[in-house]
Amino acid sequence: LIDEKNKFYEINKETARFFFSNLTKNESGLNYLYNRKINNKTIKQFGLGYSLNKWDDLYKYLKFRGYKEADAQKLGLIGKKSSNDGYYDKFRNRIMFPIIDTKGRVIGFGGRVLDNSMPKYLNSQETPVFNKGEHLYGLNLVNKFSDKKRIILVEGYMDVIALFSKGINCGVASLGTALTERQAKLLKRYGENVYICYDSDQAGINATDRAIEVLLKEEIEPKIINLGDYKDPDDFLKENSVDQFEKTINESFNHIDYRIHINKKKYNIDEAEGKIKFTIEIAKIIKRLKSPIEKDVYIEKISKEMNISKEAIEKEVFGNTIKHI
Ligand code: UTP
Ligand code: MN
Ligand code: MN
Ligand code: MN
Ligand code: MN
Repeated sequence: LIDEKNKFYEINKETARFFFSNLTKNESGLNYLYNRKINNKTIKQFGLGYSLNKWDDLYKYLKFRGYKEADAQKLGLIGKKSSNDGYYDKFRNRIMFPIIDTKGRVIGFGGRVLDNSMPKYLNSQETPVFNKGEHLYGLNLVNKFSDKKRIILVEGYMDVIALFSKGINCGVASLGTALTERQAKLLKRYGENVYICYDSDQAGINATDRAIEVLLKEEIEPKIINLGDYKDPDDFLKENSVDQFEKTINESFNHIDYRIHINKKKYNIDEAEGKIKFTIEIAKIIKRLKSPIEKDVYIEKISKEMNISKEAIEKEVFGNTIKHI
C-alpha cells in the first residue's frame, strides 16, 4: 500500500515537473502570471506550471515515461473517452498549481483558466493521495519559512502566492472547501495566532462565519482581517504595501467585534426595529462566550453603544435566572 502511494506521488511529481517545463516555454502562460505580478522566483517557489491547449499532451508524456493509464486516471490527471478506449487530459490550457504537503509530496493540482471562461479553477478530485479536507494550500512553505507566530487563512491559490511573494510567509488556503476540523487543527499547529482573511464578498463573509465556528470548536480564537474595499488579499497587495497589510493585521477584529461590525452593517441601528434586532443578535453571541468577564465587558460595551440598559441586555443574555452571586 505504501509502495502504491509512493508511485502516485511520483506520477504527480513528474506531472508537476512537466507542467513547469511547459510554462517556461509558453508565452501566454508566463505573460498571464507576469501581468498578475508573479515573477520567476515565485513561479519556482510554488512550482507553478501550465497545461497546454491540447487533448493528450500529458497523457502521451506519462505513457512515454512508462506510467500506467489506470494510475494517471486514479489521480484525476486523465480521463477515459466515452467514444472509444482512448484517454484525454483533464487539465488543459490552464495555469497549474501543484498542491504540496509538508513532506514535499505533490498530492494534487489546481488549474486556472487564463481568461473568463468557466469553471475558473479546476481541482484534482479526491484520490488515494489527496483528501482535500486534510490539507491546506501553502502549508509546505509555511512549514519551511514561517516563524509560526501567526498563520493567515485565505480563500485562494493566488492569495497565498501574493502573500509569499511579498515576504509574508504565513498564508494558507483551504482549497475551495468549507474549513474542516482537520484543517483547523493544522492552523493551530502552524500558527500561535490564527487570522481569517477571506474575500470581502458575501460568499467570503458566509465562509468567515463558518470558519469562526469551526475554529472556536478547536479552541482557537481567530482574528478577522478587514480588507475594506478590496476583494481579496491578492487584490489588496496589488495596490498596497506590506506595511499597509500589516496595519490590517494590527487592526483585525476578534471574533465578537467582527460580528458586531458585520451585524451593524446588516441592521439599521438608527431605527428602533434595527436596534432591537441587532442587540438581540449580539446578545446571542455574548451568551456563548465562556468567560464571565468577557460577557460583562461586551454587555457593557453594547449597552453604551446602543444606549440600552445593562440590565435589559443581561436579561437577554442570561434569561431571568440569576447570573452570578
Ligand atoms: P475566488 O473566486 O475568490 O478566486 O476563489 P481567486 O482565488 O480570487 O482567483 P483569481 O484571483 O480570480 O485568480 C477562491 C478559491 O476557491 C476555489 C479556488 O481554490 C480559488 O482559489 N475555486 C474557485 C474553485 O475551486 N473553483 C472555482 O471555479 C472557483
Ligand atoms: Mn472568493
Ligand atoms: Mn478571491
Ligand atoms: Mn483573487
Ligand atoms: Mn456583573
